[in-house]
Amino acid sequence: MDKKIKSGIADAYKNYFNIGAAINPELLSFGSELIRTEFNSITCENEMKFSSVHPTPGKYTFDRADTVFNFALSNNMKMRGHTLVWHNQTGSWLFENDNGEKLGKTDKEILYSRMKEHIHMVVKRYAGKVYCWDVVNEAISDSDSENEYLRTDSPYYQISESEEYIEKAFAYAHEADSDALLFYNDYSTEVPAKREKIYRLLKSLINKGVPVHGIGLQAHYNICCDVNELRKSIDLFSSLGLTVQITELDISVYKPDERGMSFSEPPADRINSQTELYGEIFALLREKKDKISGVTFWGLTDNTSWLNTFPEKRNDYPLLFDANQKPKEAYGKVVDFAGK
Ligand code: GLA
Repeated sequence: MDKKIKSGIADAYKNYFNIGAAINPELLSFGSELIRTEFNSITCENEMKFSSVHPTPGKYTFDRADTVFNFALSNNMKMRGHTLVWHNQTGSWLFENDNGEKLGKTDKEILYSRMKEHIHMVVKRYAGKVYCWDVVNEAISDSDSENEYLRTDSPYYQISESEEYIEKAFAYAHEADSDALLFYNDYSTEVPAKREKIYRLLKSLINKGVPVHGIGLQAHYNICCDVNELRKSIDLFSSLGLTVQITELDISVYKPDERGMSFSEPPADRINSQTELYGEIFALLREKKDKISGVTFWGLTDNTSWLNTFPEKRNDYPLLFDANQKPKEAYGKVVDFAGK
C-alpha cells in the first residue's frame, strides 16, 4: 500500500493516537489535500446516520457515505462509523406502525427487529474496514437529578422503557462485525452529574456482558471548558477497562449564555483563550495516551463548522484551520510539543 509521507497533526501524534476529522463530500472537493496532510482518521459528518443511509423502510442510500469511505480507504486512513442508534436524524417511521401510529411498549419487538435489520445492513457493508462504531449516541439524560437517568425524550426509550434497546444495539453491531470496536458516545461527559450516569450505564452494560469497548467523549467545548473535569472523565471511564476517544472536538469562541452575539472577526482575547485551551487539552491527552485511542475534530475549517448555524446563525471559529485553510495559532500549540 502507498505509504504516505505526512507532515501534519497526525504525524506529530503518531506515537500517541490517531487524529481524525469529520468530513462530508463537499469538504472533500474543497479541502482534500489539507485532509490528506493533516489527518489519518475520518468520520462521516452526517452520511452514515440513520436518515442518510435508510430514509424510508427497505430503502438504503449509501452513495454519500461511500464517497467519504472510499476517500479514507484510498488514502490509507482509518474510518470511524457514526452512528447507529440516535434519537436525532432518524426517520420517524422507525417508531411507527404501518398506520403511522406511534409504537408502544407492547411493540418493542418490532422496533428491535428494525434496529437489527438496519444495524446488520450498515455494519456488514463496511465490516473489516470501518474499525469502530458509535453504536449508541446520547442516550443519557442532561438533568441534574440522579433519578432521571436515561433520556426520556428519545423514541427508542419511550418504546423500550429501559436500557434494553441499548443492549440490543450493541449486540446487533457485534453480530455484524465481531472485530469492530463498539462505542457509547455522548456530549457533556465532563459535567459531574452526567458523567456519573454515563458511568452507571457503562458499568451496567459491562456487568451484563454487553459488547461495549469504548466511550466517545464528543468534546463540543467552548472557551470556558474546565480541563480538570475532562481529566476526571478520562480516568473514571477508563477505570472500567474501556478505551477512550475524543470524537467531535471543537471549541466555540462563545460562552454558553451569549445567544444573539456574532463576531464578524474573531476577537483576539477569545482566540487567545481558545489557543491556550487547545494546548491544555492536548497536553492532557498526551499524558493520558495509554487510555486514549483516537482524537477527532468535528469538521475541517472554521467557516465550514456546524457551529456557524448552531445553536443559531452566527460566525464561529472553533477549529484549527481558518477559512483560507491556514493553520491558526492553536495549531502550533497542538503540534509543537517536542521536549515538553
Ligand atoms: C452531535 C452528533 C454529531 C453531530 C453534532 C453536531 O454531537 O453526535 O453527529 O450531529 O452533534 O453537528
